[in-house]
Amino acid sequence: MTEKTLQEQEAIREKVRAGYSEIAETGALSCCSPATEPVSACCGGSADGLAQELGYDAVDLAALPEGANVGLSCGNPTALASLSEGETVVDLGSGGGLDVFLAAHKVGPTGRAIGVDMTPSMLTKARRNTVNFVQQTGLDNVEFRLGEIEHLPLPDNSADVITSNCVINLSPDKPQVYREVFRVLKPGGRLAISDLALLRPLPKTVEEMVAALVGCVAGASRMDDLRVMVTEAGFTDIELTPEPVFTEAQQASQGGLWNEIARHLPADLKPSDYVTSLNITAKKPA
Ligand SMILES: C[S@@+](CC[C@H](N)C(=O)[O-])C[C@H]1O[C@@H](n2cnc3c(N)ncnc32)[C@H](O)[C@@H]1O
Repeated sequence: MTEKTLQEQEAIREKVRAGYSEIAETGALSCCSPATEPVSACCGGSADGLAQELGYDAVDLAALPEGANVGLSCGNPTALASLSEGETVVDLGSGGGLDVFLAAHKVGPTGRAIGVDMTPSMLTKARRNTVNFVQQTGLDNVEFRLGEIEHLPLPDNSADVITSNCVINLSPDKPQVYREVFRVLKPGGRLAISDLALLRPLPKTVEEMVAALVGCVAGASRMDDLRVMVTEAGFTDIELTPEPVFTEAQQASQGGLWNEIARHLPADLKPSDYVTSLNITAKKPA
């Protein structure tokens, strides 16, 4: 784990923000990957097809405001979180609001679901979706805040659960993200993350591809490093479970980015030999 200077970190955030601004403004592209083909080219044929492969319920998806699912997920952290009525949930890198709206249903009118995202156009999209969500459900328990997950716009000890879906890999300072999550969770609070992780180091050419960074691959950490980050932030009951549904679907679909990455790998290896989707759960001690 080499630390990046503040300038290097900002340069990475700028590339990531530019990539997701383009996605928010031009419509969803393919599966956590700003490739050139539309989302229908991979992972079950649509954003909802991908989500169902990841374990989302078709009925829950159909009840979402149109456009909340932008097809950028790689897991199902809301299911992992086992939410209860009345809980406060914070979703890191909330995009169009998919997991925030689903969480809002689960925590109900006495709970709260808050999305944080650093890309203004993603936030605009999510806030437009909120208007429809309130009209459709009568629930007024959703909020989206502009901010970086390394500097959460939330008070100490204020959330019961923190979720995140395919986002922390994009952060240039992941140990700081886990420290922030620990600060914001209440004692006894839980972490439920879906993300991508590396199984072996990527070739330098892939590490340096902007599309592979924005596509959630080049910035991913090794599983051992993730465990150290979560432990050093103070969490207990840490579980890292590879859940390669997403990465296998990408591999099978041979989408634009994965094809491009494959061209930089030795002939006997494929992208899913390097990267896996995984779940991370942990608790802040009570
Ligand atoms: C791959 S998309 C996932 C969106 C959403 N979680 C989903 O599953 O549909 C990544 C999102 O994280 C946001 N993001 C990336 N890095 C971030 C950071 N350092 N702080 C806050 N948001 C970030 C991006 O703007 C984008 O909306």
